[in-house]
Amino acid sequence: MSVDRRTFLQGLGAGALGALAGFTPAAAAVRPLPAFDAANADAFWRAVRAQYPLLDDPIYLNTGGLGPISQPVLDTVDATTRQLQQHSETGHSLLEPARAVLAHFIGALPEEVCFVRNATEGNSLIASGLALAAGDEVIFETHAHPGGSFPWLNQAKLRGVTVRLFEPDTTSAEANLARISGLVTPRTKVIQVSHITCTTGLVFPVEAIAEFARARGVWFHVDGAQAAGMIPVDVHALGCDSYAFSGHKWLGGPHETGVLYLRRDRLEAVAPTGIGAYSGELPQLPGEIKYSGAASRHEYGTRNAALIAGFAAAVRLQESIGRERIAAHGRKLATLLLNELGKITGIEVLTPRGDDLRASITTIRHARADARKFFGYLLEKHRLRCRPVTEQELGAVRISTHVFNSRADTERVITAVRAAARDL
Ligand SMILES: Cc1ncc(COP(=O)(O)O)c(C=O)c1O
Repeated sequence: MSVDRRTFLQGLGAGALGALAGFTPAAAAVRPLPAFDAANADAFWRAVRAQYPLLDDPIYLNTGGLGPISQPVLDTVDATTRQLQQHSETGHSLLEPARAVLAHFIGALPEEVCFVRNATEGNSLIASGLALAAGDEVIFETHAHPGGSFPWLNQAKLRGVTVRLFEPDTTSAEANLARISGLVTPRTKVIQVSHITCTTGLVFPVEAIAEFARARGVWFHVDGAQAAGMIPVDVHALGCDSYAFSGHKWLGGPHETGVLYLRRDRLEAVAPTGIGAYSGELPQLPGEIKYSGAASRHEYGTRNAALIAGFAAAVRLQESIGRERIAAHGRKLATLLLNELGKITGIEVLTPRGDDLRASITTIRHARADARKFFGYLLEKHRLRCRPVTEQELGAVRISTHVFNSRADTERVITAVRAAARDL
């Protein structure tokens, strides 16, 4: 982008738009929640539930697939779209305040935050941007989502990168580290894990893997699609080199939002593979591009600023609920499920039992019904929207428990699964 263009765009920031016609880039106010009172926690969670236009039928238990949007987020996207359209402006200046919100939320610096369209795009930027040669090795788990595995399988096709896979171990964090360690060779250049797997909801020991990778000079990338918004994430404390997540799952952001965190001192290691205006400076042609000094160099072209403003509003709602409180609520419901479903003859719980290995996902398998049949039965007969888990032939059903879910929802699940064990 030319300096002139940049200056012009900066001039059309929030203030300038405001001067045009009262444009207010600030997100619609989050409806105030009552103060949390442990003695009356149900009232608090009912107030949280009331923020969501999500219908009660079917009961929604698929946040791991897609998180419903709250009214404040929807209002922010609507209002911002309307205001931008009234002036036919891109609203690009809204990205920086949103970036600050997202950075604060994950314990990063704003210059380490790149807005992407989804976790897959973040994973892909790392896979395609790292300097890898034929024969260089990448380690990740067999339970990786296609959004985490395909970017590397693509590099295997395009650049001859070697993919080395390990099966997640459900017994302990140490066992998972040992499995990774057993695959490391002098050619290992990257380790990637899902922070939380999309299959059984297993939580990997990300901090320990980061330390292990750093000691060996190996890049460590985390696919956080199932973690951000479910559990507190502090990327600096985790110690990874890069971390990608979607806004449209546990964070309840608009569809097509996400972040790639790229550690500041690792910025230059990821070559920009998609590039254009906003990626850097070039006063005039001919000439050489000077990349911007921030992770946002991977953003380019016109973006939907209303979605990004909505993404920041989703984070604000989570902050007003409390990150620890969200994680504890989801886990409490999942623990109820784990304990009760585990007692049903003919039902196998695939989610690991260890406290440090699980969070707000519960995955179960029916002894006689395959994933689709079990899923269809729960939806049609009991109005429960879960998600079939067909990956790695697991033949299971995944239940996600989040802020808008209640104890009554889990009781419905338990009753339905008991019936499924009898009827199917
Ligand atoms: C671990 C993991 N990675 C990546 C993805 C893909 O997410 P997105 O569609 O936001 O790219 C998912 C989606 O379920 C996931 O669970």
